[in-house]
Amino acid sequence: MTMKLGVIGWPVAHSRSPLIHNYWIQQHKIIAHYDRLAVSPDGDFATAMDGLREQGWVGANVTVPHKERALAYATSSSPNAQRLGAANILCFSEAGVYADNSDGYGFTAALQHSLGSRAWATEPAYILGAGGAARAILGAMIDAGVPEIFISNRNGARAEALAVLAAGSRSTVRLVDWNAREQALPQAKLLVNTTSLGMVGQPALELSLDGFAGIVFDIVYSPLETPLVRRARAAGLVAVDGLDMLLHQAVPAFDLWFGVRPDVDAGLRALLVADIESEA
Ligand code: ATR
Repeated sequence: MTMKLGVIGWPVAHSRSPLIHNYWIQQHKIIAHYDRLAVSPDGDFATAMDGLREQGWVGANVTVPHKERALAYATSSSPNAQRLGAANILCFSEAGVYADNSDGYGFTAALQHSLGSRAWATEPAYILGAGGAARAILGAMIDAGVPEIFISNRNGARAEALAVLAAGSRSTVRLVDWNAREQALPQAKLLVNTTSLGMVGQPALELSLDGFAGIVFDIVYSPLETPLVRRARAAGLVAVDGLDMLLHQAVPAFDLWFGVRPDVDAGLRALLVADIESEA
């Protein structure tokens, strides 16, 4: 029987998760199909999940705005998902529902893949933004042992709330006023944009890279080369685009559902690049 899985979100029509997982399903000759399911923010998430389990779904990815509800729905969860208060992976079984969060893993793996080293983790880093993605990335930086982490967000209260995650860790968080982000930047060796600035239809991120000698990581992947990434490369800096993070965050989910650790290979990346470019 065909195993059923999918991504749940709102909106979900543009999710690239089906492309990624169906590519690996084919590659590993697994009899499964990965779909999309739109569940509205006011819809009953738990009832929708109960329905999927009755239909025999074995697992799901969960995206905005349901990641907190996904964690609450689960009967057990990873320490990372608990710490972040959000899950992007659900695994259904007779025993119950297990939740995990692989966004931070996607970030670390993308850096490892692009740089081939963990040296970034020994130097100060800078996070722009304070949403769910920033939270997962802050968690990953804390786990990697980044000594000093600057955070700047338009809404300063959200950045303050985020900083609590570092309490009791080896990492020191320094909050920087959104309007002072440029002055503080040269102190860091890794800049991560987690805001939606630079995304198709959004204004570009205003931030001069003068005096910054580090790596630029933009989690935005549509367009593939954001104005920030383009400026970084033009200035001779190493820049990592958001597609690598998207691809790598999918690996732990596939492994959990099927017991196979899939490869982020050139064919998969090319498939996604073509899809993103067809929309541009
Ligand atoms: P996600 O969960 O994907 O990280 P989110 O919670 O919607 O998404 O977060 C979006 C981020 O982009 C936030 O940090 C947001 O800043 P605020 O917390 O101040 O809203 C940031 N962002 C979006 N539009 C922005 C803009 N025009 N200027 C500055 N920051 C912006």
